[in-house]
Amino acid sequence: METKKVRFLPYDMEIPVAKGENLLQTAIAAGVYINASCGGEGVCGKCKVFIEKGRVESKRTEGLSQAEYDQGYRQSCQTTILDDLEVRVPVESYLDKRVLERIRQREIGGRSPSHHMLEHLVEGWCYDPLVCKYLLKVDPPTSGDRRFDLSRLLVSLQKRILREYTERPKDNILPSLEKGGRFEPITVDFRVLHALPHVLRHSNWEITATVVHAGVHPREGMQQLTRSKNPQLIRVESGDTTKRHYSLALDIGTTSVCGQMLDMNKGQSVAESSDYNAQISYGDDVITRIIYSQRPGGLERLQQKIVFTINHIIKDLLKKVGISVDDISYIAVAGNTTMTHLLCSLDPKYIRESPYIPVANYIPPVRATNLGIDVSEHVQLYTFPSVASYVGGDIVAGILASGIYKKSALSLYMDIGTNGEVVIGNSEWLITASCSAGPAFEGSGIHHGMRATTGAVEDFRINPVTYEPMIITIGRVKPKGICGSGLINVMAELFEAQVIDRSGKFNANLPTNRIRKGEYGDEYVLAWANDTQINQDIVITEPDIDNLIRAKAAMYAGCAALLESTGLKASDLHQIIITGAFGNFIDLERSILIGLLPELPLEKFLFIGNGSLLGATAICFCRNMVDDAERIAKMMTNVELTEYHPFMEKYIAALFLPHTNEAEFPKMNKRLATLQQPKLMRGVVA
Ligand code: FES
Repeated sequence: METKKVRFLPYDMEIPVAKGENLLQTAIAAGVYINASCGGEGVCGKCKVFIEKGRVESKRTEGLSQAEYDQGYRQSCQTTILDDLEVRVPVESYLDKRVLERIRQREIGGRSPSHHMLEHLVEGWCYDPLVCKYLLKVDPPTSGDRRFDLSRLLVSLQKRILREYTERPKDNILPSLEKGGRFEPITVDFRVLHALPHVLRHSNWEITATVVHAGVHPREGMQQLTRSKNPQLIRVESGDTTKRHYSLALDIGTTSVCGQMLDMNKGQSVAESSDYNAQISYGDDVITRIIYSQRPGGLERLQQKIVFTINHIIKDLLKKVGISVDDISYIAVAGNTTMTHLLCSLDPKYIRESPYIPVANYIPPVRATNLGIDVSEHVQLYTFPSVASYVGGDIVAGILASGIYKKSALSLYMDIGTNGEVVIGNSEWLITASCSAGPAFEGSGIHHGMRATTGAVEDFRINPVTYEPMIITIGRVKPKGICGSGLINVMAELFEAQVIDRSGKFNANLPTNRIRKGEYGDEYVLAWANDTQINQDIVITEPDIDNLIRAKAAMYAGCAALLESTGLKASDLHQIIITGAFGNFIDLERSILIGLLPELPLEKFLFIGNGSLLGATAICFCRNMVDDAERIAKMMTNVELTEYHPFMEKYIAALFLPHTNEAEFPKMNKRLATLQQPKLMRGVVA
């Protein structure tokens, strides 16, 4: 096998590779992130790189223009390595991880979710950790006491747990025990037995026992519990290790993965870390990933990639907190149905085939090392139960965190993104739907769309007289594209300034050279080439606006259809909770102006940051939440919008700015009418 070297610039990373390897795969292997929105199908052109040195064989497909090809650009997914190479990854192809820091900083006012904050956000929350460490003095055997090692340990442990309950005056468990309630037997992880005799004797019978409580307390009159719900002894260690007791909360998103290290003694998150989901190089959305998983070795590769990302995050968190991997006792994961399947190596094939059946909605806790996660062997990994193919554990976790399932007032929960999800309900019922808004809000399918990384236009204003733009980018650098929240701002501003009309068509008669005819129809120039990082004009085109209108219409129609299916109106909503990395950044008023969100008083809207991660944190700190998560998943009725006829009607009605039915947006329409007045007087509009 002939080996070649590939050096990636500006990372200055070099990797040896077999001649004939694919360049995108090589970048993935080298840990170089390259946008590969179409998963290597050759359609999107986002994976283009510049070959600075060396020979390659490369096919040009529709994703790359002839002019770019002639300049030396190649689509990395279509390129075979023939020689030692120097490859430059252009700014628009490369994913900048620093922006994930921005996502975290804005979350929940930048506060870390200590248990005090959880108390504020999650109704009925109490600090009662799911996993506990107990320091035990075990009676040594004597000639008169010949009980087995395990029996004597369990007696000490049971007493210790009982004492814990008695020390809590407010706990409702003690009275039930006093009245003859039964203490559920402790189950034991088989592997504990291997270590037990040595640990007991080497530590002079003083040990630390780690127990997973799994959220079930003994209660009077309670039926026999299933075995998996009993407290389970998962580890014994010599001496006192109770001070070193941490759990990990993870939100596994299709685009990025966020993790928090939780100090189980303090009831506090002590560090956070995020990274792009390394599966990103195999496609942008869950459908592309499912398709990829059906290739030979595809499922295995995707599983390894997500584990690679998780391990990377764990390493980073351990470094930040200054603890050893051995100090982690538990992992709670919230992910959508496909991500959960891929993590657990479950075939996601039937998620995308009618009638859309996942393998399981509840996956029992598994040993994290069995999945390849770099933690100690005793660590269990819990995944949130899911509801349906496109309503996953991330939404269940978010509902748990939002607390809407405990309130009598009606709430709407919205996770805005490619797989937009909405949930409506209260303590009595929950109804949910997945809106499939498409990838426009992630910047995909938009001519100069990009993810929310450095250089993405995030805010935009337009001078209503001259139509000159003012743009603000992430990182305050020259622009290289427009991210999802930026697109909403751009569209809202263009609409308010009447550069586009209610159907998203450009007003070509305005006195500005910013509006022009482009390759794809009318377009507005946000930045001239020499003011950008990509040396080309950054524009928003009429097809882009069409895509965005379709995406916002899907989200809005999803909410409207769900409300109608329950005989309710938007005005019946007491609260609207917005979550998701993208949702976290949207401008409320502008989102209402374009008809993405219902027109309701702004004080009814609440941003909760990353609801899924908050749910995963809540479950680690409060064992009762395990039961609550299962209850939420069971409570939720999923509505398949594609099979619900009024949805299509509502969708078509929403393909207008802000909406065909003016009565649904009375204030916005009034505002638009008054804004129009001074312009007419100035004679700006013909
Ligand atoms: S064209 Fe290469 S990943 Fe899309």
